[in-house]
Amino acid sequence: MSKKLFIKTYGCQMNVYDSDRMTDVLAPLGYSTTTTADGADMVILNTCHIREKASEKVFSELGRLRMMKDRARDQEGRHVAIAVAGCVAQAEGEEITRRAPWVDIVVGPQTYHRLPELVSRIDPAARQRVIDTEFPEEVKFDQLPGEHAPRGPAAFLSVQEGCDKFCAFCVVPYTRGAEFSRPVAGILDEARRLVAGGTCELTLLGQNVNAYHGEAPDGCSWSLARLVRELAEINGLARIRYTTSHPLDMEEDLILAHRDVPSLMPYLHLPVQSGSDRILTAMNRRHTHDVYLRVLDRLRAVRPDIAFSGDFIVGFPGETDRDFAETLALVDKVGYASAYSFKYSPRPGTPAANSSEQVPEDVKADRLEALQQLLNAQQLAFNKASEGKVMDVLIERRGGRPGQVAGRSPYMQAVNLAAGEDLVGSIISCRVTEARQNSVVGAVA
Ligand code: SAH
Ligand code: SF4
Ligand code: F3S
Repeated sequence: MSKKLFIKTYGCQMNVYDSDRMTDVLAPLGYSTTTTADGADMVILNTCHIREKASEKVFSELGRLRMMKDRARDQEGRHVAIAVAGCVAQAEGEEITRRAPWVDIVVGPQTYHRLPELVSRIDPAARQRVIDTEFPEEVKFDQLPGEHAPRGPAAFLSVQEGCDKFCAFCVVPYTRGAEFSRPVAGILDEARRLVAGGTCELTLLGQNVNAYHGEAPDGCSWSLARLVRELAEINGLARIRYTTSHPLDMEEDLILAHRDVPSLMPYLHLPVQSGSDRILTAMNRRHTHDVYLRVLDRLRAVRPDIAFSGDFIVGFPGETDRDFAETLALVDKVGYASAYSFKYSPRPGTPAANSSEQVPEDVKADRLEALQQLLNAQQLAFNKASEGKVMDVLIERRGGRPGQVAGRSPYMQAVNLAAGEDLVGSIISCRVTEARQNSVVGAVA
């Protein structure tokens, strides 16, 4: 009998990928996905622990799910299984079962391939909680099913897991575990299957993706650049991207891949977090602002049209007005096409959380506003500069209104244009007719 599965995904692209993989794992048990929690037989929250706000959301959502679960039991005699997966599950598994005892399964990012077994252990009568937040010996990717539903024109592919960098603010090394690069063969198989299913753009994922060093069939360890060059040979794979990268791992062969591989898109997300060397050191980023700028210079030298995006944290412990001014100065120098910026959020178990130099909330808020004003202006300027230009747009889906479709430019700009739905999945030449803050309007050229 078919059962309905609803997965709600928080956090980064790795979670989006994982949610799809959980769907694949549960499909043989008769679960097919649905778009609302109402009426679902199983609800999975795939959670994010990166900032306090992100993890608190989970507990409020669990409150709503409790009511839904009780209603289904009382009114229909039906059991709704509730699972918490992802990074909050990993970090706060015990806390979840204590604060939300109606949760049936807690499963971490490295053990969700075991979901079928975990589901079989649910016993509503015994009110037994099933928790699996191990960092297992076996490799998750080897256990996941080969077959899966098509993922659409643009798909994610995780090539690396975990992180060994231990930036002083970050929970990822604790929630995702040690850095691990997937062997090349499995990645190529999965890429070929995705392309056979209609995908023409792949984004390779890892928290530290440019440090990728996977075992290859030739017995060597391949860099990300080598992997990208190999993927570029797949017929029908028109676009390759990768995210997220660390400035220190931006090696020469990867920079040169941006010169040599036409399908490697001219857009790179390269977080710097701060423009102050003092704060970068305190963050344990292990590079100066100058090293970062030189990496961007190298990339621009080999690929003059490359555009950048970044991540920033304001109000890291000890950050002074002067440090913050250096962040603004760096942003000014770079000229970002887009960027994400956040107020520092102290996370349990990370070194910076214990610092006595916490920055007051109102100072963080003021700095964030100033930074976002600058970043927004840069984004608008970047979009304005594309007005009148013709570029390739991958049409990803139907648009908001009939007769409209939505896609992405090579620079990740969201492009809306009037065209038929039959174009979804193809790359077409578009002229940008109007720039907006977060998107551009195009016309078939
Ligand atoms: N692996 C990526 C970042 C992953 S987390 C990298 O190294 O760049 C995504 C972004 O969240 C980070 O780049 C950072 O800007 C932000 N972030 C991480 N921890 C944070 C915290 N404790 N408070 C505020 N922002 C944080
Ligand atoms: Fe977190 Fe730093 Fe690792 Fe990125 S590199 S995931 S910010 S510890
Ligand atoms: Fe969040 Fe985990 Fe991704 S903490 S950002 S979901 S790796």
